[in-house]
Amino acid sequence: MEVRRFTRGLLPAVFLAGAAFLLHPSPGSAQADKTTRPPAPAIEILAPAAGAVVPPGKVLVIGRAKGAGTSGVEIDVNGTVHQKTVTTGGGFMASVYMLRGKNVLHIHADGASAERVVVASDNVTYRYHPQAEQCGGCHGETAGGYVVSGRKDNVCYQCHDRKDGKKLVHGPLGGGDCTICHDPHGAMNPALTVAKAEGLCVKCHDQPGSQKHMKDSRGVACVSCHEPHSSDKTFLQK
Ligand code: HEC
Ligand code: HEC
Ligand code: HEC
Ligand code: HEC
Ligand code: HEC
Repeated sequence: MEVRRFTRGLLPAVFLAGAAFLLHPSPGSAQADKTTRPPAPAIEILAPAAGAVVPPGKVLVIGRAKGAGTSGVEIDVNGTVHQKTVTTGGGFMASVYMLRGKNVLHIHADGASAERVVVASDNVTYRYHPQAEQCGGCHGETAGGYVVSGRKDNVCYQCHDRKDGKKLVHGPLGGGDCTICHDPHGAMNPALTVAKAEGLCVKCHDQPGSQKHMKDSRGVACVSCHEPHSSDKTFLQK
C-alpha cells in the first residue's frame, strides 16, 4: 500500500522530469532559449556539454541542425579556426582543434547559431561515449535522420548486455528509456549519467512519500544501496 501511494506521487514528477529533459537537453547552454524559439533554423550543440573540460587537441563536436538553411554549418573556435561541415539528416559532426585554456565554440548557419564555452586542460571532466565517433553504430544509416524513435534500449543492446534481466526492473527501463539517465554522446559524470549521483535520482524521487528517506540519504550515493537498472531484491537493493 506504501508502494501504491508512492507510485501515484511519482507519476507527475516523472512526467515533469521527462519534459524537462526534452526541453532542455543541455541545461546551462546560453543558447537554450534562442534555439527552442522560432524562426527556424535551429542549431544545437549535443557534445561537448556546456562547461566541459576536455583534453587539449582534437575535440569531437556533435550537433543538431534542423530547418531551412542548415544543409551546412560553419564552425569557429575563438573566432580563428574556420571550418565548413555538411549536415546530413539534421545532424553534423566535426573535429576541431582546441588550445589549452578557454575555447569559445561558435557554430552558425543561415540566421541560426549556437555557442558554447569549453575548457581544454588536463583536469578532464567530460568523457565521450567510447563509440561516439561511430555515429552509425547507434544511428544506422544517418541520411534518413538522427532521430531515435521508440525505445532507446534497442540501440544500446546491440552492444551492451541487457540491464533488465533481474526480477524487479526499474521504472524507466520498462519503457526502454536509457537516455533519460545516460547521455549517449558524452557526459561530465561517471557512467555518462546526465546528472551527478543523488541528483540523478531525486529528479524523479523527491515526492512527499519519500521525503524522509531522501533526506536521510543526502550526500550518500543512492547507487551505493540501489541498483539503477534491475535487481532480484525488493526496492532495487544491491
Ligand atoms: C552510443 C550511441 C550513439 C552514438 C555513437 C551516437 N549517437 Fe546520436 N543519439 C543517440 C541516441 C540514443 C539519441 C536520441 C537521444 C534521445 O532522444 O534521448 C541520439 C540523438 C542524436 C541527435 C538528435 C536527433 C534529434 O533531432 O532529436 C543527433 C543530431 C545525433 N544524435 C547525432 C549524432 C552524431 C553526428 C553522431 C556521431 C558523431 C552520433 N550521434 C553518435 C545515440 C548515439
Ligand atoms: C556500437 C556499440 C555500442 C552501442 C550501440 C552502445 N554502446 Fe555504450 N559502450 C560501448 C563500448 C565499446 C563501451 C566501452 C566498454 C564498456 O564499458 O562496455 C561502452 C560504454 C558505455 C558506458 C560506460 C561508460 C563509462 O564511462 O563507464 C555507458 C554508460 C554506455 N556505454 C551507455 C550506452 C547507451 C545508453 C547506449 C544506447 C543509447 C549505448 N551505450 C550504445 C559500445 C556501444
Ligand atoms: C535511472 C537511471 C538509469 C537508467 C534509466 C539507466 N541507467 Fe545505466 N546506469 C545508471 C547509473 C547510476 C549507473 C552507474 C552505476 C554505478 O555506479 O553503480 C549506470 C551504469 C551503466 C553502465 C556502465 C556500468 C554497467 O552496468 O555496465 C552501462 C553500460 C549502462 N548503465 C547502460 C544502460 C542501458 C543500456 C540502459 C537502458 C536499458 C540504462 N543504462 C538505463 C543509471 C541508469
Ligand atoms: C544506506 C542505503 C540506502 C541509501 C544510501 C539509499 N537508499 Fe533508498 N532504500 C534503501 C532501503 C533499505 C529501502 C527499502 C525501504 C526502507 O527500508 O525504507 C529503500 C527504499 C527506497 C525507495 C522506495 C521507497 C520510498 O521511500 O519511496 C526509493 C524510491 C529509494 N529508496 C530511493 C533512494 C534514493 C533516490 C536514494 C538517494 C538519494 C536512496 N534511495 C538512497 C536503502 C538506501
Ligand atoms: C526518469 C525518472 C526516474 C529516475 C531518474 C529514477 N527513477 Fe527510480 N523509479 C522511477 C519509476 C517510474 C519507478 C517505479 C515506480 C513504481 O512503479 O512504483 C521507480 C522506482 C524506484 C524504486 C522503488 C522500486 C520498488 O520496489 O518500489 C527505487 C528504489 C528507485 N526507483 C531508485 C532510484 C535510484 C537509486 C535512482 C537513481 C540512480 C532512480 N531511481 C532514478 C523513475 C525514476
